[in-house]
Amino acid sequence: QAIRREDYRQPDWLVPEIALDFDLDPAATRVRATLHVTRNGAHDRALVLNGDGLEAASVKVDGVAAQNWRMDGQDLVIPLTGDAHTIETEVVIAPERNTQLQGLYASSGMLCTQCEAEGFRRITFFPDRPDVLSKYKVRMTADKARFPVLLANGDPIAQGPAEGGRHWAEWHDPFPKPSYLFALVAGDLVANTGSFTTMSGREVQLGIYVRAPDLPKTDHALHALKLSMKWDEDVYGREYDLDVFNIVAVDDFNFGAMENKGLNVFNSRYILADPDTATDWDYDAIAAVVAHEYFHNWSGNRVTCRDWFQLSLKEGFTVFRDQSFSADQGSAAVKRIEDVRSLRASQFPEDAGPLAHPVRPDEYIEISNFYTATIYNKGAELIRMMATILGPQKFRAATDLYFDRFDGTAATCEDFVASMEEAGGVDLGQFRRWYSQAGTPRVSANLVQDGATTRLALAQTVPPTPGQPVKEPMVLPLKIRLFGEKSGAPLTDEQLVLLDKPEQELRFEGLPERAVLSINRGFSAPVIVDANRSAADLAFLSAHDDDPFARYEAMQQLMLDTLVAAVTTGKGEHGALIDAVRNTLTDPSLDRAFIAEAVLLPSDSFIGDQMAVVDPDAIFRAREALRADLGNLLEPEWRAAYEGARANRFEYSPAAKGARRLKNVALGYIAASGAADAAELAYAQFDAADNMTDRQGGLATLVNGTSSLREKAIQAFYQRYAGNALVLDKWFQTQALSSRDDTLAAVEKLARHPDFTLANPNRARALVGAFSINQRAFHDPSGRGYRFVADQLIALDKLNPQTAAKLVPPLGRWKRFDADRAAKMRGELERIVASPGLSKDMFEQATKSLD
Ligand code: ARG
Ligand code: ZN
Repeated sequence: QAIRREDYRQPDWLVPEIALDFDLDPAATRVRATLHVTRNGAHDRALVLNGDGLEAASVKVDGVAAQNWRMDGQDLVIPLTGDAHTIETEVVIAPERNTQLQGLYASSGMLCTQCEAEGFRRITFFPDRPDVLSKYKVRMTADKARFPVLLANGDPIAQGPAEGGRHWAEWHDPFPKPSYLFALVAGDLVANTGSFTTMSGREVQLGIYVRAPDLPKTDHALHALKLSMKWDEDVYGREYDLDVFNIVAVDDFNFGAMENKGLNVFNSRYILADPDTATDWDYDAIAAVVAHEYFHNWSGNRVTCRDWFQLSLKEGFTVFRDQSFSADQGSAAVKRIEDVRSLRASQFPEDAGPLAHPVRPDEYIEISNFYTATIYNKGAELIRMMATILGPQKFRAATDLYFDRFDGTAATCEDFVASMEEAGGVDLGQFRRWYSQAGTPRVSANLVQDGATTRLALAQTVPPTPGQPVKEPMVLPLKIRLFGEKSGAPLTDEQLVLLDKPEQELRFEGLPERAVLSINRGFSAPVIVDANRSAADLAFLSAHDDDPFARYEAMQQLMLDTLVAAVTTGKGEHGALIDAVRNTLTDPSLDRAFIAEAVLLPSDSFIGDQMAVVDPDAIFRAREALRADLGNLLEPEWRAAYEGARANRFEYSPAAKGARRLKNVALGYIAASGAADAAELAYAQFDAADNMTDRQGGLATLVNGTSSLREKAIQAFYQRYAGNALVLDKWFQTQALSSRDDTLAAVEKLARHPDFTLANPNRARALVGAFSINQRAFHDPSGRGYRFVADQLIALDKLNPQTAAKLVPPLGRWKRFDADRAAKMRGELERIVASPGLSKDMFEQATKSLD
């Protein structure tokens, strides 16, 4: 049942060309495929074309109806005698009944496709693997009134009328591509159009296609697309290669977006924005995802993956590219902080749990389950480390070499690393363990003064993970600098230490004063560092470190130490922390976005990750108590920060975003202080807001509280945005994340709300996904939170296994909790495994989670 990386074999047959003819209809779409197949190497194996739920209406070989084909499970097998043949197949599929949202499906009246990873086989019979590259010609015929716009990959060739109120269009894609990059869209759409002139002077027509009412919300995405195209030319020397680049926004989509050649398809939440409906987070995410999918045109499409074990080749690299792009648009330090926070929130727990896997996995049951934080975000950290080790010039030379050498081919992670080695002139032999060993490395660092010598003792370990009990030492690039405790000035230059042994020692001679260690600056290695620094040293670094990430990190560590002490001992000395927060909050040299990040307490779940056994109630109490103390003791400072961050009119700029962020963080602390006017302040902000960041910030504060204004705000928000699905998602999500005691009951009730549906992935994630990361409510001692999630997942699996399987991991963390909770969580996983008709997506996630 499991597919293994070591079993990779070249494809038996290649398909240099394919022509597809679609007779589109939501109930019954006829798909005719003409494949030119050629034998790959000397063998006598039959042609195997993958299918999923397809029935061959006819099969022809070289124009003649074939008799000798057979089905092997879902696949179509055709014995062939010669080395080159023309195969024609015909199938009928029903897009409107496709609730999995893989293959060809219907969404809000339009027809669209999603093929990565293995959705193309739900459309037509084909060798559906990424190392079979073909030139595609696509012809579509559809009802002209319902589907006036017909789009596919590549360039538009021709179009015209057809009988019975229908019309047709033809698109050709000159670039050979794997089937997972195929796309078509038919719908009643309008476009926000633009153009981009590439560095060699070619003009590209750009189009963002949406339904007519959404057109005013597409300017931000179009602008981000142009910025991305320019950035990839400037930073990587990569130029766009077709005459058109289109994006379509669809409401029902399993994940963020998809990089289909020349025709990206997006979850509408990553396209549509205006100040009234999108938060700053949404604006930033739209730009990042637009950039990500655009960058795939080179890192993914021109150079694709040999097999799905190499997924991080395109995803890790492309995430690194989109992170760098976003860093260049505003504050690089704040972007790094956000990226590390999300790595710690999603990837570290994955690496520490039952679903841990290497960045290049060795086996899978269902590939869809491997679109993970490890493949994407840890994968991006691997690229970042190589860029750090090589330095910017050599890194660019190495990516040039990689793109040139592998253009038009299906490559491997090994090919990428070898390009880095060759152009960078470095040996990455041991570094390759980052691709094969799962688990987050832990580093201990001890700085001790010994007469005139200061020694830094470093040690690393990599924890055991499923299937990998014993680990070899990794190469960890650690940026380090020492600061003088008295002077506050640096005592050394920043240096890059490559820790590649279990233990290593560094010596510094004749330092003029006691040194304080700044380590893993910029989060240069994705590891957990235990540097044994005192509260005083951490407070010192939070004020004096010249690396903004390290400064943030020192404050986080101080907060974590304080909170973990409070949770485990019931008491907590927090004087150093209060002073450090005050200093940061009132430091005129810091920008507001940075301050907002730095003064935010670590999340409940990150605090839990530091503990042997997670106690969600104790964590919640300790964190709320600290929030209240910070709120009270610094109330004038929070109020000043709040007032200082007010603006007259919405503007989307780094400074204005930073101000809104700080304003919402300050509002949260003012509310935590218990100030009598906090609810009025939140409601006033909510009510008068000219943008969604302020409005949702006010709402969230009220939703966590007990004021009578709470219900008023919930109702007002609902009324104002009735009919806007993306904003209603926020309404569900904000309530599911509430820290109140009655959230579990409220969420159970919301699941029966007329606007709740599991059929739409965004809505399912807004309620069920958000609830399952709400540590307090999900881990309610009764076990009802677990039961609720399991019930929803069992129901969702019947409609959409991919989206359901993605929501299993919170239940899989049972080992981290007390025996009673663990038993209840396991019980729900067992119930999922036993439920009839379980998908293989869910089977893999749930059974692995039980081990
Ligand atoms: N390649 C897409 C992206 O990262 C995501 C595709 C996800 N596919 C899946 N089966 N989960 O841009
Ligand atoms: Zn991607």
